[in-house]
Amino acid sequence: MLELKINGGTYEVDPPVGQTLAETLRGDLGLTGTKVACGEGHCGACTVQLDGVPALSCITLVHTVGEREVTTIEGLRDHPLVDAFVRADALQCGFCTPGQIVSAAALVEAEPELTAERVRHAMAGNLCRCGAYPRIEEAILSWRD
Ligand code: FES
Ligand code: FES
Repeated sequence: MLELKINGGTYEVDPPVGQTLAETLRGDLGLTGTKVACGEGHCGACTVQLDGVPALSCITLVHTVGEREVTTIEGLRDHPLVDAFVRADALQCGFCTPGQIVSAAALVEAEPELTAERVRHAMAGNLCRCGAYPRIEEAILSWRD
């Protein structure tokens, strides 16, 4: 049995060895805001935070999470970035959006004053097949407006 700290709560799960954090979140706990696209650590769709640091949940084994606090998109529902993404119309299909917001939330927490170049560099691990990059950048730069 594992105890996971997620979005301020504590959850008991009993995953098989080798199960990923993404599988546990989505399959066992119904936290389906975390998306899985490539499943191989290449696209950032599955990004969550572990103690505030972005992590790819599709390649993170759930047994390695330990005491770290997991933050998923469900835990960021009241974050100003959510409104910023809506205002900037920073999505098309929306599949990459949870991962984009989770990564961006860690970024603005660490660096509230950002430049476009810094946003581009820091968000390079979050791919968007719809090519919404200019609006994603705009949303992150205007997150406090
Ligand atoms: S689904 Fe995890 S990096 Fe693509
Ligand atoms: S909005 Fe469709 S993949 Fe980014």
